[in-house]
Amino acid sequence: MAKAAKSNFVCQSCGAISARWSGKCVSCGDWNTIVEEAAAAPPPPGSGLAKATKGRVLKLESLAGEPAEAPRFSTGMPELDRVTGGGIVPGSVHLISGEPGIGKSTLLLQLSAALARNGRRAIYFSGEEAAAQVRLRAARLGLAEAPVALASETSLTNILATLADEKRADLVVVDSIQTLWTDALEAAPGSVSQVRAATQSLVRYAKSAGCALLLVGHVTKDGQIAGPKAVEHVVDTVLSFEGDRGHTYRILRATKNRFGATDEIGVFEMAETGLREVANPSELFLGERDTSAPGTAVFAGMEGTRPILVEIQALVAPSGLGTPRRAVVGWEQSRLAMLIAVLEARCGVSFANHDVYLNVAGGLKIVEPAADLAAAAALLASLANQTLDAKQIHFGEISLSGAVRASPHMGLRLKEAAKLGFTSAVIPAGGELRGDGGSDGVKLNLHRISHLKELAAGLDPCD
Ligand code: TYD
Ligand code: MG
Repeated sequence: MAKAAKSNFVCQSCGAISARWSGKCVSCGDWNTIVEEAAAAPPPPGSGLAKATKGRVLKLESLAGEPAEAPRFSTGMPELDRVTGGGIVPGSVHLISGEPGIGKSTLLLQLSAALARNGRRAIYFSGEEAAAQVRLRAARLGLAEAPVALASETSLTNILATLADEKRADLVVVDSIQTLWTDALEAAPGSVSQVRAATQSLVRYAKSAGCALLLVGHVTKDGQIAGPKAVEHVVDTVLSFEGDRGHTYRILRATKNRFGATDEIGVFEMAETGLREVANPSELFLGERDTSAPGTAVFAGMEGTRPILVEIQALVAPSGLGTPRRAVVGWEQSRLAMLIAVLEARCGVSFANHDVYLNVAGGLKIVEPAADLAAAAALLASLANQTLDAKQIHFGEISLSGAVRASPHMGLRLKEAAKLGFTSAVIPAGGELRGDGGSDGVKLNLHRISHLKELAAGLDPCD
């Protein structure tokens, strides 16, 4: 008697397989993520597959030798080239993740059009929108004339058949991987098994045909790529497209890159006619500055190899609460708590009866410790109700002792500030200014400080 098809219970969050259903995944601890999926059928007896096949002896090589630089082609979008590490490598697979509505489809359509206009073969499979909708977007973006090959399809089998028929594809876009399904599996589209199967087949195609593959992946509200962590392991680069709805700028960031660094970002602005590349992000983030407002300081930060100037705003207001509020947007809550503690313990400035709010203008998220000094300057200025010099920048990491530590790329930061018309800088006393693109010739008035006290003394809080 034929055995009933066996089913597995697969966690949609981490991909762990268990024999029975449970409310909580024992592997990742997430609740309500386990879904029943049919197990892959065992190979039929006599097919030969069940037998262990004898392996071929591999020729082992040494690490030394001519490193062949991966051939790349430019995307025609400098910001995208920057994030991918200098262009797209043929045969590479990229996952672009982001929240719904952030602009993934827009970005990929613009990319496909840019490549198609340069004589490359770009194929765009949309599983989420009908061809008419994509065409409408193309018209809005002014790209209707670009020779992009378009199909609206969710069947993996049909997509693979179409690709097999394709002689020379340079770029294949699949928007999105969660919509694809194959009838070889009983699981629903979007489930881990379906997504994994679709990714693996497409990756196999991309590697054998040498065409670049871009997959769109949705993220859940906690920032995970919905369902398949598994996909991240298979692809060469994971690019996340970030930004918030209230602001027009978008940041493309590589979180994994087998062909380049992961610390570069690409900055775009969502306009009426699609995404516009922002070559000089500082101008965007400093654009709407109110230089007369007390409690703001300009931070010269670094994103990868590029300096970016942003405004840090602080509001320190008398509190009516027993436990004053400390709220922060775009920075870490724990860093703010640390900074306040250092200011209180090492500089004798008290925030005990004040609510403290800190905001990074433009909605940018800063993770660099070098922002400490700018945040401290904004906090002290707000407490003292003073306006800082509008042409001054700050950077430097603050340690628990209150010492101001050197930051990487000090020369580059100063150079960018000078370029944007800033005239003075409060920076760490230690650290080399020359050597990384150099501050030679930079005509900034430098205030080099070694302890936070020196900054506090200059501001003289009123209480
Ligand atoms: P979309 O690319 O569809 O997002 P995703 O594929 O990530 O879900 O773009 C979504 C938003 O972008 C949409 O709400 C409208 C806005 N948008 C513009 O502001 N300008 C434009 O030219 C386009 C095409 C979209
Ligand atoms: Mg979309």
